[in-house]
Amino acid sequence: MKVLVIGANGNTATRVVRRLAAGPHAPVAMMRDPRQREPFDRLGVPTVLGDLEYPIDHCLAGCDAVIFAAGSGGHTGKDKTVLVDHLGAIRAMVSAQVRGVKRFVMLSSLNADIESQSKIAHYHRAKAHADHYLRESDLDYTIVCPGRLTDDPGNDRVTISDQLHGNGKTARDHVAAALVLSLDLANTIGKSFSLLDGDTPIDAALRTV
Ligand SMILES: NC(=O)c1ccc[n+]([C@@H]2O[C@H](COP(=O)([O-])OP(=O)(O)OC[C@H]3O[C@@H](n4cnc5c(N)ncnc54)[C@H](OP(=O)(O)O)[C@@H]3O)[C@@H](O)[C@H]2O)c1
Repeated sequence: MKVLVIGANGNTATRVVRRLAAGPHAPVAMMRDPRQREPFDRLGVPTVLGDLEYPIDHCLAGCDAVIFAAGSGGHTGKDKTVLVDHLGAIRAMVSAQVRGVKRFVMLSSLNADIESQSKIAHYHRAKAHADHYLRESDLDYTIVCPGRLTDDPGNDRVTISDQLHGNGKTARDHVAAALVLSLDLANTIGKSFSLLDGDTPIDAALRTV
């Protein structure tokens, strides 16, 4: 499968690209800054330039699946959260629909809620709006909702649940593994689940969703 990784230069997405490059699928790394190309060139991973605030249809040419792992981050204004995490994500989904790319794996968040009153309600609302569009679409989606992301080394053990609210932390290594493994697990299609560090081997946990 040729898999477009959106937000490829991010902390989680670089792990996604490395995992894909080591396996049977062929990643294509999407980024908005050409200066970020070099590490992907060294890995032998093709890159494509695209900014979620503008049309990105060209980035999906020839792809079979999308992993969306971009985000405006905590240091930009609320406007960018809407433009990237909400509207940019939907733009990517519409591009997938236009290009006939059916498989779409979304990195969302625990506590994404259209009526969120959390301290970062603008973010949780943006993620929820994007997830809602995806669930209502005709795409073969999987929505992975981690807790607070850490750079702890993964041990491939997690807890997965259909309870999408709560607290906890998730190693980025575990998020990357779940996003990539979901591509090949048909039982994850049409599912949204939380992903926290835990005790169950990740592959076994994913098979229960
Ligand atoms: N942090 C948490 O605790 C947490 C918890 C749950 C879920 N999440 C979700 O997980 C996601 C990934 O987290 P992370 O720490 O890996 O993120 P990250 O390192 O901040 O990476 C985000 C990536 O998105 C890219 N991006 C931003 N705006 C873009 C645009 N307009 N067009 C294309 N790409 C764009 C960034 O590219 P540039 O280098 O060009 O900026 C960057 O490569 C977050 O965005 C969030 O939605 C986070």
